[in-house]
Amino acid sequence: MRQVTEACGELGLDVGWSPDRWIASVSDGIRSTRIIGYTFGLNDASAAEAALDKVCTFGLLHAAGIPAVEHTLIEIPKDRRSRGPNLSPDVQPPLVLKPNRGSGGADVLLCRNQEELLANFAALSAKYQTLAYSPFTPFDAEYRVVVLDRKARLVFEKLRFGGSEQPWKFNLNLGGTPRVVRPASAEYGPLARLAVRASDELGIRFGAVDIVVHRNTSTVLEVNDAFSLIFFSASSDENFRIAAALYADVLSSMFTSSPGSRDR
Ligand SMILES: Nc1ncnc2c1ncn2[C@@H]1O[C@H](COP(=O)(O)OP(=O)(O)O)[C@@H](O)[C@H]1O
Ligand SMILES: [Mg+2]
Repeated sequence: MRQVTEACGELGLDVGWSPDRWIASVSDGIRSTRIIGYTFGLNDASAAEAALDKVCTFGLLHAAGIPAVEHTLIEIPKDRRSRGPNLSPDVQPPLVLKPNRGSGGADVLLCRNQEELLANFAALSAKYQTLAYSPFTPFDAEYRVVVLDRKARLVFEKLRFGGSEQPWKFNLNLGGTPRVVRPASAEYGPLARLAVRASDELGIRFGAVDIVVHRNTSTVLEVNDAFSLIFFSASSDENFRIAAALYADVLSSMFTSSPGSRDR
């Protein structure tokens, strides 16, 4: 919120916040727009939906020849918990079961065997409308690339906390810390290019592309159209300033171009 308010000040934009500070109304005197939570309105509704739905993201990226972590929808039976997942026999643990439209690593569950798969399926199918599964892969690293209008604007690695007993999820809200990847470093270019290809394919103008690395191969795990940089910003004063500058660019994009527009 402070970053958005300060960026508006720098750009000469008026900003007003709702009492709960969830909605910002921003105006340049001629046009006005809203930021709702982490949604800045730069992505059109179908692009945002494609990103939110992990199975849809995989399907679109895979069809376009962009490496993406496989995600498959699991049908939830009408009578919910009474039956287990209807998976073909060649789908075997270890699997990761997750809400198809989730975020923050919440309810992303590792199923190491059939018993865990049944128990996790029972728990999640009682709670969510749609679930996805993905083959478990012990990723070596995970990166986030924030893309704005076809350019990588920020790249960082998510480092998991802990030594040898590391948890398997990389989400920063679960204790991970960010390491900023500088544009001059060798790892930057390939990550930036993959992220721009993925966001372009989905039609995402502003988004966070999460890329996992396994045995030196980079693959898109997910694309987020609405995401927070709270944990990134809180990790250091410098990262707070990096995120503030990024939000200033996002706000300026909101007033210099029409939402959802893209040429292909
Ligand atoms: N198939 C998988 N194999 C190994 N780890 C995974 C897999 N899917 C997700 N993870 C781990 O769990 C974390 C959360 O999963 P993700 O699909 O990004 O859900 P969310 O949208 O809730 O963040 C990822 O950052 C990754 O570290
Ligand atoms: Mg994630």
